[in-house]
Amino acid sequence: MSWDGEDVNQLHGLFKKSQDEVAALLLDPVQLREPLEERLRELRELTHAYNALLILDEAKTALRVHLAGVQGLYHVAADLTVLSKSLANGFPLAAVLGPAEILDLAASARIMGTFNGELVAFAAALQTVSMMAQPESTHHLESLGRCFIDGVNDLLARHRLADQIRAVPYRWPCMPYLWFRDPATQRWRLEFYRHMATYGVLMLPNHMNFLCLAHTSEDIDEMLQTMDQVLLGFSSC
Ligand SMILES: Cc1ncc(COP(=O)(O)O)c(C=O)c1O
Repeated sequence: MSWDGEDVNQLHGLFKKSQDEVAALLLDPVQLREPLEERLRELRELTHAYNALLILDEAKTALRVHLAGVQGLYHVAADLTVLSKSLANGFPLAAVLGPAEILDLAASARIMGTFNGELVAFAAALQTVSMMAQPESTHHLESLGRCFIDGVNDLLARHRLADQIRAVPYRWPCMPYLWFRDPATQRWRLEFYRHMATYGVLMLPNHMNFLCLAHTSEDIDEMLQTMDQVLLGFSSC
């Protein structure tokens, strides 16, 4: 069963219809509509009312919006938490966190793999978590994200493109997103990203961008200079 993340009453109906058959609600909190804190609390109450687990996939949010993801930001605890690439700064590692009484149930499932004893990603995870646990780390991501958004919007205004394209936080500034809001810009959108990549700035079309501790304000300036050149090329066409 799936749910579009909008109407909690509709979800209520789905749970009611399938009473005792829904084991868990698994969601990426980034996809929930605002107000996020209230939504998370509603979903927690709803799942528990139907004896189902609330599983939050914090692949994007953990260590980024807060060390403990949206659960740390809003003090709403999931029953199980899924972590992924941000845990080890891109090294291949994923984890499922939760209480022993739930995790122990997995002991009956035989999970084997060639790389299961691999330790490099664990070393990367220990280092990543210890760096992201510094209070200034998430602040760094947020303030660089704001510089990205403000800088891009100033640039777009100078190129008279502010009505067509906007830089916005994908909910949080540490995940800035370029919103090509005018359908007319779709014609050259991919060309724009291709030019940015040619000049050494890789941004994903149709995706938020991610900032990391290695990024500096000089990187943002360099990105803005590159974007200035690319936009100049487009406006002189
Ligand atoms: C919320 C979420 N869950 C899962 C995944 C997939 O993670 P992985 O590629 O580590 O399997 C992604 C990918 O970015 C994601 O954003």
